[in-house]
Order: sequence, then structure tokens, then C-alpha cells
Amino acid sequence: MNIYLISLFPELVHQAAAFGVLGRAIKQQQLNLQCINPRDYAQDKHRTVDDRPYGGGPGMLMKVEPLAKAIMAAKSEASDNAKVVYMSPQGQQVNQQLFVSTAAERRDLILIAGRYEGIDERLIESLVDAEWSIGDYVLSGGEFAALVVVDAITRLIPGVLGDDESAMQDSFMDGLLDCPHYTRPESIDDEAVPEVLLSGDHEAIRRWRLKQALGRTWLRRPDLLDVMQNDASRWDEEKADLLAEFKKEHL
Ligand code: ADE
Repeated sequence: MNIYLISLFPELVHQAAAFGVLGRAIKQQQLNLQCINPRDYAQDKHRTVDDRPYGGGPGMLMKVEPLAKAIMAAKSEASDNAKVVYMSPQGQQVNQQLFVSTAAERRDLILIAGRYEGIDERLIESLVDAEWSIGDYVLSGGEFAALVVVDAITRLIPGVLGDDESAMQDSFMDGLLDCPHYTRPESIDDEAVPEVLLSGDHEAIRRWRLKQALGRTWLRRPDLLDVMQNDASRWDEEKADLLAEFKKEHL
């Protein structure tokens, strides 16, 4: 997959992407992450990349010409149907479903990480296909938001995760929170690992994990559980029974 990230701080992006699953995906050429710096397209001797907002007020905007040129450079390198996304708190809030559908589209992505107070609205209208937010808070730049998108999508590229890291087991992948996990030692300060996990009974372990996932989602994210319960294709008798058991034990 090709992702072009437009940023005034390419070193920040490359550093952050050099580790773990992302770093390995890049090394193995499953992800091609290119940074394009608007500063390289600035014309004046100071290579200016910010400009004052019309109407006055505090803060600067990204200067139109270098940014527009950087976007056009990314578009000319990317495939014709590349999707241009501006990272912004005003955007659609991202979630696992959006990442799954984006990864499945297999289109190149051009992510714009803004700095300062943002970018000229006309650039959004003419060059941007979607605006994405990672949550209701304001970051001082779009790089961290863009990296969230890069990370979440990369782990969905077939082959990036090994079997034992499978994305299918992740929280949210099936609309539920993840179950609790345990590793050695068997006992920490008299707190033992749930017995069923030591039983070797794969069916009992599957049911226990599903029950815990349902119970946690009920406790922590009832909104997610509501959505699942109202979708006949994702709610069945087993889930209803396991959730009822969890609730009874939780009283
Ligand atoms: N840029 C600044 N804040 C952001 C947010 N919450 N989501 C996406 N991009 C941003």
C-alpha cells in the first residue's frame, strides 16, 4: 500500500514509523510511506510555509501555494484514484470500521497533516476527498493523527501481522472490546489466572473469552453493545446467554 503524508516535519513521521509493526511493514515493502514537505515547494528565500488569515485574529494558516504544490506532487506520484484526506478535528471521527473499509479499498492514500490553525477552505473544497478526526481534542499538528491512521490501516494489510498477532482478535474488530489477557506467572500476589485458561479446553476458552468481551463491552461501552444487539446478523443466542451469565455473576 502507498501512503503519501504531507507534513512540515517528515523526520517526525519517519522516526515514529520506524518501530514495531509499522517499521517491519515498511522494511518488508508492504507499506510504502512517503513524506512530502510543503517547505520544499516554497518559492521565497525564507521558504515561508505560513500566512496570515484574512479577517485577522491570532494564529497563522498554512501558506496556500507550497501546500497546494505538495498535494499536487503527491497526486502525481500516487495512483489516479488516490484518496486525499485532511486530518482535522472538524472531520468525520475515525473508527475501526472506517479503517477496515479503507484498507479493503486498496486505494493509495494522501494524508495531509496540517500545522498552525489549519488550511485554506478552498484547498479543502478543491483537493480534499475527506476530512478525518481522531477525536474531540485539538493537537498542535496533524502528524500524530495521520500516524494513527497509518498504523491502524497498516495492521489490516494482509500479511503485515503474523498469525499470532492476528488483527481478527483485536478489540473492535468484531464490534466488541477485547477480553482480558493473562501470561506467566500463574499467580501474582495470590491473584490466580482464571482456571479455564489453563484447562486446554479450546471450546470452553472460546466461550469464556467471548463472555468476557461481551461483559466488558456491556460495562465500559454499552453504546457498542446496543449497536450489536440491534443487528440481527451479529447478535445470536450464544451471545445473549453468555452476556446474561456475565451479568448474573456480576451482581
Ligand atoms: N489535527 C489537530 N487535531 C486533530 C484531531 N483531533 N484529529 C485529526 N487531526 C487533527
